Amino acid sequence: MIRPRRNRKSAAIRALVRETSLEASDFVYPLFVHDEADDVAIESMPGCTRWSLEGLLKEVGEAHQLGIQAVVLFPAIEESKKTPLAQESYNDEGLIPRAIGAIKEAYPALCVITDVALDPYNSDGHDGLVEKDQQGGVTILNDETVDILCKQALSHARAGADIVSPSDMMDGRIGAIREALDEEGFTDVSILSYSVKYASAYYGPFRGALDSAPKAGDKKTYQMDYANTYEAIRELTLDEQEGADMVMVKPAGAYLDIISQVSESTTLPVAAYQVSGEYLMIQSASAAGWLDRKAVVLESLIAIKRAGAQIILSYFAKDVAQWLKESR
Ligand code: PBG
Repeated sequence: MIRPRRNRKSAAIRALVRETSLEASDFVYPLFVHDEADDVAIESMPGCTRWSLEGLLKEVGEAHQLGIQAVVLFPAIEESKKTPLAQESYNDEGLIPRAIGAIKEAYPALCVITDVALDPYNSDGHDGLVEKDQQGGVTILNDETVDILCKQALSHARAGADIVSPSDMMDGRIGAIREALDEEGFTDVSILSYSVKYASAYYGPFRGALDSAPKAGDKKTYQMDYANTYEAIRELTLDEQEGADMVMVKPAGAYLDIISQVSESTTLPVAAYQVSGEYLMIQSASAAGWLDRKAVVLESLIAIKRAGAQIILSYFAKDVAQWLKESR
């Protein structure tokens, strides 16, 4: 008789036949930074911190020590520096360029990824520039935004970023950023495109972390409709043509079908972002004692990798690296 259970009969055999496993090097660790002296716990994302530059360096160092090879940085910008034209987003002396410089100096081998989008810098809380009409309606300007995104990407490249990661979903930005980087000689700076980013309620806690929620309107005219699949492949194809080095699907857990289709449709490395809402659901349910935190975190991440993601952005990255180390 054929008995599939034979392949599950001991931990040793299960380990032999296991198809998917996690490594610390699979992860990108997202970190929040602000221009203040203190490290401040983020209310909307329990367990996450808005780091001072000093705190950031310490956290990055600990994660790196555990085998994490890449971080992505998100800035919390003071309200007084937010403007309709988001000029602070390409200030060469701004928070992100300084953070990049400090990390690269302390840990040259670590891969530093930056988020390219205007929402932390924009007084309107949108990823692009906003045009308002008499009725209070908003239009997000595409091409004008792309010009600023290019300046932002250049300021990150000058500071030493290894990878810039546009999360804005404007049309044509990958090609424009590639050209801008190449023209200034940054031919080695990579682009990880948020190619397939859905307009998702799972981003709520993140916007609380950065005070970056849109002041008017929503993001549905640029982020994708979560009911759609073909659009994912269309965005993927365009970003490939425009020169993306890696592509991303976001969110991850509720979009495993999309991760799977995207990874089958491209030869580029595919990343997936386990976003703030996914993090918060596990954090809060396990804090209440309703879920086994470690078990559910690992299961959620294996699922994302099994679906086809080679790179995972997760707020649990450091915990996982710690657990992997302990299990060795
Ligand atoms: C903004 C950006 C967002 C996230 C990453 N970059 C929020 C948004 O698009 O509104 C979400 C990350 C998360 O929820 O963890 N460009």
